[in-house]
Amino acid sequence: MVILIARDEKRGTEAVENLKACGLSDIIFHQLDVTDSASIASLADYIKNKFEKLDILVNNTGVSGFIMDAESFTSLKLKSGELSQALIPLFRLSSSARIVNVSSGLGQLKNVTNEWAREVLSDVDGLTE
Ligand SMILES: NC(=O)c1ccc[n+]([C@@H]2O[C@H](COP(=O)([O-])OP(=O)(O)OC[C@H]3O[C@@H](n4cnc5c(N)ncnc54)[C@H](OP(=O)(O)O)[C@@H]3O)[C@@H](O)[C@H]2O)c1
Repeated sequence: MVILIARDEKRGTEAVENLKACGLSDIIFHQLDVTDSASIASLADYIKNKFEKLDILVNNTGVSGFIMDAESFTSLKLKSGELSQALIPLFRLSSSARIVNVSSGLGQLKNVTNEWAREVLSDVDGLTE
């Protein structure tokens, strides 16, 4: 069973219907905005109540086409961690738990134009959550 997420309920529901029309039946929609703590908590509760466990979390959410400042970088970073932290307890009952993080070559440090962010991320020994 795959839970497809999107911020917009209408677009997410349509995506699920399109996939079902292609023959994929084990797929359902749940709203999620990864920058919204209440939305993260709601998804975690939903999975816990309906399935009791989670086997695989695919972190695929991406934003592109803008230059990130220090504030938005910190906010996004913390929220991505918040989603994983909220869902990790649901791995407890799984025998095949894993997190798949989808990244990009654009995420390489040499491509990070914000000097502050590049400096923080380059300090491997000093990195904290
Ligand atoms: N496209 C490429 O050539 C390429 C290459 C290398 C790596 N990647 C990686 O692949 C991943 C997906 O990229 P893509 O090209 O498929 O990007 P995309 O078409 O822009 O899709 C990004 C998705 O992220 C969702 N999203 C954005 N902000 C969100 C939020 N706050 N909460 C929940 N969902 C949110 C969007 O959902 P809604 O707007 O529908 O809510 C959208 O479906 C990214 O991690 C990217 O770095 C892409």
